[in-house]
Amino acid sequence: MAVPEQKVIFILGGGPRIGHAVAKKFLSQGYKVAIGRRNTEKTELDGVLPVYVDVTQPETIEEAFREVESKLGVPSTVVYNAAALTFPPDNDPFGVDPADFSRDLAINVDGAYAALHHATRLARRRNVSPLAFIATGNVTPFKAHPLAVTLGPGKSALAHLISLGTSAYDAKEFRFYFASQVTDDGGPVPYPEVSGEAHGEAYWRLVNGERAEWDVRFTAAPDSSPKFA
Ligand SMILES: NC(=O)c1ccc[n+]([C@@H]2O[C@H](COP(=O)([O-])OP(=O)(O)OC[C@H]3O[C@@H](n4cnc5c(N)ncnc54)[C@H](OP(=O)(O)O)[C@@H]3O)[C@@H](O)[C@H]2O)c1
Repeated sequence: MAVPEQKVIFILGGGPRIGHAVAKKFLSQGYKVAIGRRNTEKTELDGVLPVYVDVTQPETIEEAFREVESKLGVPSTVVYNAAALTFPPDNDPFGVDPADFSRDLAINVDGAYAALHHATRLARRRNVSPLAFIATGNVTPFKAHPLAVTLGPGKSALAHLISLGTSAYDAKEFRFYFASQVTDDGGPVPYPEVSGEAHGEAYWRLVNGERAEWDVRFTAAPDSSPKFA
């Protein structure tokens, strides 16, 4: 009897919280896992391939996809988790330095576009389908927040790309999700309350087709299980 081939997930911008929790969930389900980040030595998870990526440098994203393909295989799930935020001075969102705005935007959206480009080209070239592309989101595209002056525009553009991908491609080939943990009243989640485990479980359910729409919002229960809105 043929042994089913292990599937591959590539997480770009993976660190100790969401990145590692998503990695652990997919490892437990038999996936091969690669995590892309700048400080690869900090990815201390057994069975995970650490891959160097700086999402502000698009050529490192292309190179990282090549490395994952050659060492693990073609990813059928890609997670874009990197993000950047510069807090503005008090009540003055446009007081952020334009250079800081540009740098954050490059992380929040330019890198995500490069990941969308390379993930879809690779899956198509190697006939891997469906590809699930999950962007870690938040509610800033839907509710502007003055503290998110550098984050919201990037997440908004990212949500736009995810929505566009959903309308442009057949879901049998590519599926796209903008997945956001929200509070019980649908708001942004204070940083200490972001649950890596709830993201891991939610992303697993998305890959398994639990949701068809691209805009996915979920709350995290006290036991870290996600509840889709
Ligand atoms: N739903 C909500 O309301 C809410 C609230 C907070 C956060 N979030 C989202 O959660 C995500 C972050 O999750 P987390 O804090 O749990 O992250 P994490 O997985 O713990 O770590 C993210 C990793 O991204 C890497 N990174 C940062 N800049 C990078 C770059 N230029 N190139 C490559 N990698 C880079 C960093 O590693 P290196 O330093 O090694 O590169 C960092 O450890 C973001 O997308 C954020 O918007 C959502």
